[in-house]
Amino acid sequence: MSTKDKKSSSYMDSFRFTQRLLIIFIFLIAPAGAASFEALNNSCINCHKSLSPFTDEQLRFNDIRLNHTERNITCSLECHEDIIRKKASDNFQQWSDSGHSSYSVTCDACHGGNPDLNTIEGAHSTMKNMSSPESPIYFKNIPETCGKCHATELDHFKNTMHYQRLRAESRAPSCVNCHQPHSFKVLEASEITPLCSVCHNAKDQVSTANVPKDAKFGLEKADELKEEIRKARDSISDAKAKGKDIVSSQNDLDKALAIMKDVPSLWHSFNLKDFDRQVQVGIDSAKKAQGKLVETEPTAPSVPGAGIILVLGIFAVLYLIRKR
Ligand code: HEC
Ligand code: HEC
Ligand code: HEC
Ligand code: HEC
Ligand code: HEC
Repeated sequence: MSTKDKKSSSYMDSFRFTQRLLIIFIFLIAPAGAASFEALNNSCINCHKSLSPFTDEQLRFNDIRLNHTERNITCSLECHEDIIRKKASDNFQQWSDSGHSSYSVTCDACHGGNPDLNTIEGAHSTMKNMSSPESPIYFKNIPETCGKCHATELDHFKNTMHYQRLRAESRAPSCVNCHQPHSFKVLEASEITPLCSVCHNAKDQVSTANVPKDAKFGLEKADELKEEIRKARDSISDAKAKGKDIVSSQNDLDKALAIMKDVPSLWHSFNLKDFDRQVQVGIDSAKKAQGKLVETEPTAPSVPGAGIILVLGIFAVLYLIRKR
């Protein structure tokens, strides 16, 4: 074996070693994550987890049945049940990939029902149909249902026209229009325009047609704020390592961080101008936190310089007075 081979084989050994470590790590960590809802003693999850999605054949049949219902051809009970079954298993899939499943926010948190009973009839017995005004997921009740845990978002949302329209039973977005029930994702700037355009467009004349563009612009600004904060953090830790004074930069960064923390609640007021203004204040603070470091560099050494000149000046005056 040449030295080169030896070198590469020892390299391979260490590669295999880290690989093994990684595998052990995955085996230790992955089950812990998976177990988080596996171990839940919650009948909604345990049963819905095992509902099988449609087979291809069922799907084809379902399409035919859907076409029938759209044309008002009477549909069998069985057909409705299949649609609901599919929804019930799909929604489990989306839920299990969402942040809610990692925090054990289970189906009953939003739907009601009894998660201690193991039969469909038992578990569903107190659950209301979503078209009933008593259901927690009746469209008008959704903000309050989510607000049990997301109180700040609800508080801000309550002051908007969207909320008032919703209460008046007219067309307006509720939490799930923007976050999608079950996947509950946080939309990014690039995804927001089509969502707002559903209602805010030239044809429907809801508010101004600028809303979709302004919303995208606002969320892009929020991204810029995150980026500037990242840069400010980097430059502050650099400066700290070099032993520089970081107090005032840290203050500016804290100001920017406080605004970033408020972004979700600011956003839910849907006052896009105010949102832009506040986010801009944050961006400016974060930039200042970076800029101040550059500023203090040249001014710092000039301070002792001025001190020396002052001291020399005093000595010169004293010397002149004595000489007289
Ligand atoms: C023993 C199995 C089982 C249990 C337990 C169960 N479900 Fe279901 N669920 C189903 C099936 C199957 C469907 C599909 C429709 C049907 O067959 O009634 C369904 C449908 C639903 C639907 C669709 C809407 C509707 O009106 O039917 C919702 C919402 C729902 N379940 C929520 C829950 C919640 C919340 C719990 C816990 C409190 C729960 N389920 C417990 C099996 C179950
Ligand atoms: C964080 C709240 C929340 C959680 C958790 C949640 N849902 Fe829902 N679900 C909703 C909302 C809100 C709607 C109504 C959506 C709409 O208005 O379009 C809904 C609708 C549904 C529907 C359609 C209802 C119908 O009658 O057609 C089904 C089925 C459903 N959910 C099943 C589930 C299952 C199964 C789980 C658990 C794995 C679950 N959901 C967890 C909030 C939630
Ligand atoms: C029982 C409490 C509870 C209810 C009810 C609830 N949530 Fe949540 N939600 C949480 C928790 C816990 C988290 C994860 C921690 C966090 O991000 O604050 C979360 C996270 C989220 C996130 C962020 C997800 C991410 O990937 O960062 C969104 C968006 C969200 N919820 C929307 C909703 C909506 C919309 C509703 C109503 C249909 C709702 N939630 C109902 C507790 C709840
Ligand atoms: C018209 C669209 C829309 C409506 C309605 C809406 N949201 Fe949001 N929500 C968003 C967007 C966009 C963001 C991301 C803002 C950002 O950049 O942080 C967000 C962020 C969030 C977050 C923060 C996630 C995180 O980053 O930690 C939560 C929680 C949340 N929304 C809950 C709600 C609740 C609860 C309601 C109803 C009371 C609601 N939202 C209504 C669009 C909406
Ligand atoms: C389901 C329909 C619908 C959707 C989707 C929708 N809106 Fe609205 N929005 C309305 C209605 C209705 C009004 C009331 C104003 C009017 O009638 O001109 C409104 C008003 C507003 C206003 C005026 C501010 C206020 O509350 O005083 C803003 C800003 C706004 N929407 C932002 C958004 C943004 C941003 C989105 C996308 C994330 C969005 N809307 C999605 C229906 C909708």
